[in-house]
Amino acid sequence: MSLRLGDIAPNFQAKTTAGDLDFYEYLGTGWGVLFSHPADYTPVCTTELGKTALLQEEFAKRNVKVLALSVDSLDKHLGWIGDINETQNVTVGFPIIADEDKSVANQYGMIHPNASETFTVRSLFVIGPDKKVKLTITYPASTGRNFNEVLRVIDSLQLTANYSVATPANWQEGEQVIVVPAVSTEDAIKKFPKGIEVVKPYLRYTPQPNK
Ligand code: BEZ
Repeated sequence: MSLRLGDIAPNFQAKTTAGDLDFYEYLGTGWGVLFSHPADYTPVCTTELGKTALLQEEFAKRNVKVLALSVDSLDKHLGWIGDINETQNVTVGFPIIADEDKSVANQYGMIHPNASETFTVRSLFVIGPDKKVKLTITYPASTGRNFNEVLRVIDSLQLTANYSVATPANWQEGEQVIVVPAVSTEDAIKKFPKGIEVVKPYLRYTPQPNK
């Protein structure tokens, strides 16, 4: 069965390009992104891992550990990292799991047999410090993901966790956020000293609290 929002992300041990790894130990008390790609030495995957490597500092700033996965071997991963670094002008600094027996892929539902019996699809999970799944996305092999969007969602999730606010459609860093329905307008006025804009009793905006 596939993992759903709010489920506990299962722990696992895996062989990676950075050595043997225990997932929970790797995450520590922070956030995590676990994402699969169909295969090494393929064009879209090369650009995806390149873009992720370019954003390594952005993930680190948000206390997010990144971990990639495919069902290819460690030797293949290590050779391919050289190509990614060369062609995308980056240094891949996050581990890639060599999930040859598909044990992690199966635990996380990353193989969609009607898309491919053998390869993982483009699954991505954001995992919170409580080890619960906060975001799942699934893309087909032919479409590279937008890792800026992943960061945008992480920013939204962290705002919710830290300030009890939600983010509206198409929200971008620095824009107004939404007071969650669980907070009364009376409490919101005290909680958000930058002010509240009440459009409707259920639609209340406030400036981004951490800006
Ligand atoms: C790619 O990464 O380019 C790719 C991988 C598997 C199938 C199609 C495209």
